[in-house]
Amino acid sequence: METINENNITTMPRIGDMAPDFKAKTTKGDIQLSDFAKDKWIVMFSHPADFTPVCTTEMSGFATRKGEFTALNTELLGLSIDSIHAHLGWVNNVREKTGVYFDFPIIADIDMKVSKLYGMLQPNESETAAVRAVFFIDPKKKIRLIMYYPLNVGRNMDEILRALEALQISDKHGVAMPLDWKKGDKVIVPPPKTLDEMNARINDDTCEKVDFYLAKKSL
Ligand code: BEZ
Repeated sequence: METINENNITTMPRIGDMAPDFKAKTTKGDIQLSDFAKDKWIVMFSHPADFTPVCTTEMSGFATRKGEFTALNTELLGLSIDSIHAHLGWVNNVREKTGVYFDFPIIADIDMKVSKLYGMLQPNESETAAVRAVFFIDPKKKIRLIMYYPLNVGRNMDEILRALEALQISDKHGVAMPLDWKKGDKVIVPPPKTLDEMNARINDDTCEKVDFYLAKKSL
């Protein structure tokens, strides 16, 4: 069920919230989010409709780069407000026409339950189709990053993978990623929080500093 706040406004999950649990029918059988992809990251993404051009390019992108998500300990989970029959027909059609097989579960959200729960249905963009959303969910089932794209602009797979890897490396090393960071680039060390830490940073020659509050290091 969607969440309604005290002002009677539908609320959407935000970064830092626990991912709302749900049961759904998918092209790989029934799933419950809380049991899905245990100890792994999940990239859950919606597309507006099966058998449409931009969506076909995007889903093909997820399919052809699935190995890169697997290497990042991540399961893919698609969704649209279409039936299982439509999903199966589309998956088979794309495989026949292009050789690309959508080998990950795609939710058939025909009752719009999951779309509403995750704010994927944005009525001023479309009342019947989910927008192009991407939810990055960590192994503790916490939402860590959300992207929303409109119906007429496809997403960027390099950016989705870059953001996923940035989150994972940030978690592992307790660092932050600067503008346009990509794997192998220097990362930002946390700025000092006390005068003692500030003085230590000023005298620290192990990192590249613009000033004490902006310092980078290689991992
Ligand atoms: C598309 O994927 O091409 C598309 C889907 C819904 C609305 C507009 C475009």
